[in-house]
Amino acid sequence: MKREFAVLQECLKTAGAIAKKRLGKVSYQLKARANLVTQADVACQKAILKIIQKNFPQHDFLAEENGLKNTGSPWKWVIDPIDGTTNFAHTMPHFSVSIALAYKNEIVLGGVYDVCKDELFLARKGKGATLNGKKIHVSRVNKLENALLVTGFPYVRQNRMKELLTRFKNFILSCHDIRRLGSAALDMCWVAAGRFDGYWEDCLNPWDISAGKLILEEAGGKVTDFSGKKWTRLERFGQQTLATNGLIHREMFDIIKLDR
Ligand code: IPD
Ligand code: CA
Ligand code: CA
Repeated sequence: MKREFAVLQECLKTAGAIAKKRLGKVSYQLKARANLVTQADVACQKAILKIIQKNFPQHDFLAEENGLKNTGSPWKWVIDPIDGTTNFAHTMPHFSVSIALAYKNEIVLGGVYDVCKDELFLARKGKGATLNGKKIHVSRVNKLENALLVTGFPYVRQNRMKELLTRFKNFILSCHDIRRLGSAALDMCWVAAGRFDGYWEDCLNPWDISAGKLILEEAGGKVTDFSGKKWTRLERFGQQTLATNGLIHREMFDIIKLDR
């Protein structure tokens, strides 16, 4: 898998350079209310797909900006050209390029590149996770009351505010504090690196979360849905994301179950 790993890194760095160059220079369009896309998202995705198609013409892919190739190949690249587009469009320097490679539905390679901080998170199945070449590990915080959490709010939120805010309230009353930073891929990596202890969000898509899932698991963390079950179908990855250092998973799971 050496070649795939090299191609993954080439894609991350190439797209990262494009995004960096365009930061602050592009306008955005709306895909839906509050769901933004810029020319940079499209340009990054184009560059990534060009590299993948040149190197692995037989592989399939699933990319956020209308990019789907589904020939039945067991290999599938899952691509978010810019994760954190709202930050990007507002020139907030916290966004990433997120790319995973799945083999028969299982993520075998994952990479998330934080463009502005020049932080590259990588993982290979069974081989651990790294940040800029150094091994990373989840935190040792074992009580929710001592945890720093992160979350996000789905774009489709109009009719769900009561439920979303109830959950937020229950968590913020149970931990040190909560952050909302705007890149799901980086949220996962920051749990992997021990900067956060847990993360929850729902209605995400596979491209937001597939690379982060492997990075977090390889760093010793745990990822399940809101009923504690492992994710099985790639197309549904991220529908419900509960991602922790493993030690506070049960406590977070109990809070998620509360409905008031
Ligand atoms: C979004 C980010 C954000 C999360 C949203 C995602 P995008 O991805 O990951 O943190 O809260 O739900 O859709 O649209 O910037 O690629
Ligand atoms: Ca995303
Ligand atoms: Ca995106």
